[in-house]
Amino acid sequence: MCGIVGYIGKKNVKDVLLTGLKALEYRGYDSAGIALRNDDEIQIIKNTGRIKKLEQKINQTKLIKATSGIAHTRWATHGEANITNAHPHQVGKITLVHNGIIENMEELKTKLLNKGYEFKTETDTEVVAALIDSYLDNDIIDALYKAVDDIVGSYALGIISEDDKEHLYALRKDSPLLLGIGQEENFFASDLTALTDYTNKFIFLEEGEIAKLSQNKIELIGANHTQIAPEIKEINIEESEKGKQGYEHFMLKEIMEEPVVLEKTIKPYLNNLDLLPDLSTYKQIHIVACGSAMYAGLIGKYLIEKYAGIPCTAEVASEYRYKNNIYDRKTLVILVSQSGETADTIAAMREAKKQGITTMAIVNVKTSTIAREVDIPLFIEAGPEIAVATTKAYLLQVALFSLIAFKLAKNNLENPDKILKDFEKIPRIVKEILDKRENYKEIANQIYQNENAFFIGRQMDFAICEEGSLKLKEVSYIHCEAKEAGELKHGTISLINKGMPVFGIITDENLRDKTLANIKEVESRGAKTFIITTDKLKTSDKDITVPNTSAFTVVLEIVPILQLIAYETAKLRGCDIDKPKNLAKSVTVE
Ligand code: M6R
Repeated sequence: MCGIVGYIGKKNVKDVLLTGLKALEYRGYDSAGIALRNDDEIQIIKNTGRIKKLEQKINQTKLIKATSGIAHTRWATHGEANITNAHPHQVGKITLVHNGIIENMEELKTKLLNKGYEFKTETDTEVVAALIDSYLDNDIIDALYKAVDDIVGSYALGIISEDDKEHLYALRKDSPLLLGIGQEENFFASDLTALTDYTNKFIFLEEGEIAKLSQNKIELIGANHTQIAPEIKEINIEESEKGKQGYEHFMLKEIMEEPVVLEKTIKPYLNNLDLLPDLSTYKQIHIVACGSAMYAGLIGKYLIEKYAGIPCTAEVASEYRYKNNIYDRKTLVILVSQSGETADTIAAMREAKKQGITTMAIVNVKTSTIAREVDIPLFIEAGPEIAVATTKAYLLQVALFSLIAFKLAKNNLENPDKILKDFEKIPRIVKEILDKRENYKEIANQIYQNENAFFIGRQMDFAICEEGSLKLKEVSYIHCEAKEAGELKHGTISLINKGMPVFGIITDENLRDKTLANIKEVESRGAKTFIITTDKLKTSDKDITVPNTSAFTVVLEIVPILQLIAYETAKLRGCDIDKPKNLAKSVTVE
């Protein structure tokens, strides 16, 4: 959600900025812009739509020979996605790009209007630029500290100060920003994917620090101008993790990687379950996350409650953070997040920590805010996930919940060794399931012209439906709903029309006939039904079946099928699969 890139050095500044912006495209945006600077001037070029459009405009413009620059992809929050509102914004001697939301923008704007500032845009960012400019005396650092003291909200800022030709400045609060160190060049960016072509040395900017970048040096300045020694991290991204590797879309590449990343994530624990934290001492567990990560948590909830008998809730972070949560000393809060930067999930984590509650996180990005702040980080090994729709990371989150529940329940299970064997087999089974891609294309062919679809199931199967439905709607724009199968008759069934696709998920032997009865009910009202189940629970030859494995592993077999159906359907509908409209990969604002 919004992307920031900054560069100071000898390379072609425009090229570095555009390369960085292209790498950040996956975060989601609707306009983009750059500011180039040299000793004499600052040149700003902006456009709406994709980076390609910005690049075309840049190529048609006579550019200054720049020595530094800042760039931005904007996901509109204040004001529509037009050229005026696109970043960078320039007020007085300050030019800046911003990620985040300024909550007291109106109040600050009124004060600045009274001081004589005029505003050309509807953005909160222009207000920040004016605010910093209003404090600018001799010392930009003082002005920055004074400005951020006034701001309520979240921000990552990349700044050019007209009077300081040798430096760029960067700072952050509740929005990610990191610094990249090169040879006679330095960078900042929202995440490291923007910089991996140039450096493997990074500094993770902490809140309260101001980064001052020159060509040869990065200084971190704390309150009262104290110098802070930077902690430099070396991070190498493997070549195989970069680019689409021949696949048409990142989403497809990431689905196809599932067998490998599954093996990498679960193998250490299969060899030694003691590597997983011992959760048996907790009396209740709150799982908190957003979107797909929450749906992974929902599966965790069903497994932990059913097999380990620990009361467990799974809630959306944007709700959880504002409600009165009832904790006791034996409560554990588990955060789930691919990016580790989701604003609501971070806020829920901080709130729980403030109450003295132990927090654990299942997270992918090891350098993220959640990974750094949580008490017990537990990592999935998904590698970079670029497609906005999460696939492999979601599957791995589910896999870790399955292992956690299995470890908790192991001593009470009838045949734990057989379940362990199922876990060992699961990467191979997933590969075999993915190899049947043609079958899912066939299903996509049958549904892609519909505008509505339903997913129904009970208990854990319902949790799978939630993710199946989210995946299909976010990439294909088909309106989908997941419904507890038994709840359909209480209203929703009135929406079932002739030819409407309804996916029924059945993995639980005890609930098979109940869900099947609900599927028959929608069938008799004209729905086009697709049953996804196991060999053992098969209801007819038309069913899509997966090998029968334990309740801990079967979900890992069903999910890739739903992901591929969503992918193939979106493809047939000609959607922008990796960057669905209005969506951002990492939702770093509330
Ligand atoms: O990075 P996170 O896992 O915290 O992101 C949470 C959600 O924003 C994310 O899962 C979202 O729902 C995806 N678009 C789903 O594909």
